Amino acid sequence: MFKIRIPATSANLGPGFDCFGLALKIYNTFTFETIPSYFEFIVQFKGKEIPINQEDNLVYEAMKKTFEMFNKDIPGIRITEEINIPFSRGLGSSATAILAGILASNKILDNPMNNEEILDLAYKIEGHSDNIVPALNGGFNITIIENNKIIFKKISVDESLKIIVVIPEIKIKTKEARKILPTEITREDAIFNLSRASLLTASLITMDYSYLSLAFQDRLHQNYRAKLIPGFYDVVNSAYKEGSLGVALSGSGSSIIAFSNSNEENIAQSMINTFSSFNVNSSYIITTADN
Ligand code: HSE
Repeated sequence: MFKIRIPATSANLGPGFDCFGLALKIYNTFTFETIPSYFEFIVQFKGKEIPINQEDNLVYEAMKKTFEMFNKDIPGIRITEEINIPFSRGLGSSATAILAGILASNKILDNPMNNEEILDLAYKIEGHSDNIVPALNGGFNITIIENNKIIFKKISVDESLKIIVVIPEIKIKTKEARKILPTEITREDAIFNLSRASLLTASLITMDYSYLSLAFQDRLHQNYRAKLIPGFYDVVNSAYKEGSLGVALSGSGSSIIAFSNSNEENIAQSMINTFSSFNVNSSYIITTADN
């Protein structure tokens, strides 16, 4: 029996669509036990068992793909998933399941893959790289894809910086949230995002957060996805009003993350209250980067 723990991740962080991702101190834990000849899994969300079909189980899919790659059959195995990261909320729950499946298979197969190969396979299954890289490495990661391979640079993030994660009761499937994005952008918007993304990276490296609110601006995805989340801009503005340093949609949503170095409880409460005024129930977690 062995356990694998993988952190939640917030991708994009405003301007870094499909390139930026940050690991958070919120975890899913997967326990693997070998059992005679069949495959079984138990999924618990915050301690309560939830039903899930085998074909929807990404851990299983990832294990199947890994074993297939090495021309081997999956052995009998029982997986217990302790889920703390809600599904379809832009917090990288899929990346945790895919990585857990690959890492477990790799261990059972006696480690034929190195980290680079693990990431490449996870990328093939997930279709974008910005959650899986920080989920495996921790920290803030800039990832690029070169010849279908992931290249990344990790930066550790100041853990005195608090990250408020507000999770509305709205499910957004990343696949759907990608379909609504334009396939072309103007040069003006490209420059807008390039400059903000560079500023965000420099701010995190130098720990100078004076321009973080500008560094979180984006023109590639947030405006389009905001339509899926009632009150999105009001919630963002309520966080800024309470002194947040920078606010962004987490991944493809629906969660919103706000960075702060003071007043976290008030920022969180104000965001929740604003969502309520749009008849959206939400909850929050205050956390930090997982380096
Ligand atoms: N970069 C991906 C997207 C992240 O925004 O579609 C999904 O969590």
